[in-house]
Amino acid sequence: MYTENDVQRVLFTDAQLKSRVDSLAETISADYKGTYPLFIAVLKGSFVFYSDLLRAMALPVQADFMSVSSYGEGSVSSGRVKIIKDSDADVRGRDVLIVEDIIDSGNTLYALKNLLVQRGAKSVKICALLDKASRRTADVSADYVGYEIEDEFVVGYGLDYAERYRSLPYIGILKRSVYEK
Ligand code: IMP
Ligand code: MG
Repeated sequence: MYTENDVQRVLFTDAQLKSRVDSLAETISADYKGTYPLFIAVLKGSFVFYSDLLRAMALPVQADFMSVSSYGEGSVSSGRVKIIKDSDADVRGRDVLIVEDIIDSGNTLYALKNLLVQRGAKSVKICALLDKASRRTADVSADYVGYEIEDEFVVGYGLDYAERYRSLPYIGILKRSVYEK
């Protein structure tokens, strides 16, 4: 069992997240006006952000899901990306927005974006709630970012450590003692 004591500090409260997600949705809605975009959630970490973002959008969007693995159980990226669950939709000719919880090294999104471009998407953009910009090694950047954060391991609002903490309503920094023991 875990407790909220594992969180060292709350970074973003649920109220802050709601208002930031609403304003992201406003910007994205304006940019995609007149289109029927395909929003692909990268599971599992983005599921909370994704459902809030979709419901705040001012236009209809098609929802789809992919699951890729790069992290395994630990907190350090392996640099490998494997497709666990592929998208159901045909992306050819579509305006695609990849919705991700966090960009760290960028390996995951670099591989995903290239794949969707190769499959014939008309456009591929990236929306990430969090961006650890200082950790970037892959040549990729997000078109929409909720918050840039420091190099700390964060959990909550869908983000996990070893599958835990996803249901916390806020985003917090995980105590180092949790993953360094
Ligand atoms: P990247 O391929 O190194 O950019 O890894 C991105 C993925 O790593 C994200 O989609 C998350 O699933 C995971 N990740 C990176 N940093 C964190 C974190 O601080 N908390 C939880 N998951 C993280
Ligand atoms: Mg993820």
